[in-house]
Amino acid sequence: MANNSEFSSKLGLIAATVGSAVGLGNVWRFPAETQAHGGAAFLLVYVACVILFGVPVMLGEFSIGRAGKSDAIDSYRRLSPGKPWWISGFLGIVCSYLILTFYMVVSGWTLEYLYQSISGELFAPIPGVEEGSNLQFADRMQEYVAGVWPPMIWTWITIGLCGAVLCMGVQKGIERASNILMPLLFLILIILCVNAMNLPKAAEGLEYFFKPDFSKITPKVCISALGQAFFSLSLGMGTLITYGSYFRKDTNLTRTAFTVSLLDMAVAILVGMIIFPGVMSFGLQGESFDGSALVFVTFPEIFNNMWCPQLWSSLFFILLAVAALTSSISIAEVSIAYFSGHFNMKRVPATCAVLLPLVLLSSLSSLSNGVLSDWTICGYTIFGACDALTANILMPLGALIMAVYLGWFAPKGLMQDQLTNGGTIRNRLAVPVMFLLKWVTPLLILVIFITSLFM
Ligand code: PFF
Repeated sequence: MANNSEFSSKLGLIAATVGSAVGLGNVWRFPAETQAHGGAAFLLVYVACVILFGVPVMLGEFSIGRAGKSDAIDSYRRLSPGKPWWISGFLGIVCSYLILTFYMVVSGWTLEYLYQSISGELFAPIPGVEEGSNLQFADRMQEYVAGVWPPMIWTWITIGLCGAVLCMGVQKGIERASNILMPLLFLILIILCVNAMNLPKAAEGLEYFFKPDFSKITPKVCISALGQAFFSLSLGMGTLITYGSYFRKDTNLTRTAFTVSLLDMAVAILVGMIIFPGVMSFGLQGESFDGSALVFVTFPEIFNNMWCPQLWSSLFFILLAVAALTSSISIAEVSIAYFSGHFNMKRVPATCAVLLPLVLLSSLSSLSNGVLSDWTICGYTIFGACDALTANILMPLGALIMAVYLGWFAPKGLMQDQLTNGGTIRNRLAVPVMFLLKWVTPLLILVIFITSLFM
């Protein structure tokens, strides 16, 4: 069924799409992946992936959404009736649901840290841990994440907050929230970045982040960088098909895709420029500071060494909570748009149908960091398995199917028409983008997949 919702202004459209792209992927996932995969070498491959795959795939999703004027599944059905391409949209919806199961949990952590920053608890000494020790925040994080009730309750609160915005719909909910919150987020990041440049080992941190060691570029680094690019730009799972269906006829898709990708990359790079000077200056290397804990350990440590830690910490965790919330909203919107369009459901029941089962699934994901840590799939906990499966396999796979569809099987002229707004604007990038989607994107994704299987 066609949807009739639209973003009301250009700024609202960009803010909502950037709001979807900029999230925990940039602030929580990106530095952890960079650290795990060789610093600047990872950054280099990541930037290449954004330009080579990110922008064309984003344009592809926008085009399918705006031309199909429906959700991730029905847009394909309307464009190619009777053909099985809608399966790609279906995979996207499954993938979006799996992402939500761990994304809501980490969003909940940010709310807990925001609460602890405002109350000052975060900087209170922990009994048994020497004050000033750089394990202070690592211990706090590990203990918190492994707990049963607090992380679960914050996860439920996050789901409730998202539900409230989602019930209000596209213009009143998503667009209004993003218009206010996105510019605020950039401002806070820039202030923190200027501050990080004054840390004692800022230069060392920047060197780690910007000076690549080419020998570290391996197939594993490439697949992780590809996964990170897709995760960060919200690609390969129908979110941007859904948002594309809310775009107006006169929206310049190419300009929007470039603006969103550049802003998203800028946030990730700003975060790296804050976090790595901090890691070097306060000696935060080693197991306790790796992976999902990195942001929650490094940032508080940085703030603790600044004037008025509580203020900085509160500002930062507001930022992270905002970024997490706008992205969670966009991920859930994929399924809600499908339910309300396909089953003709009103917004509120559709939102409840999507979010209520999530309460149970994300609780399991949260518990898998503690009491259920023995429940593993191929060595991953439920939480880790959902993260790796979605970013490294399902999202690139979704993008691969979409690129093959657009390059070879979509109605003739669909992309050209969308990229030039039906021939009303000139677009010198239309031909290179179509070439990339037809040949380069599918082939390179396949090569990266296959080589990483054997490494
Ligand atoms: N791009 C978001 C982030 O970086 O946190 C996560 C995300 C949002 C992934 C929407 C996928 C998606 F469809």
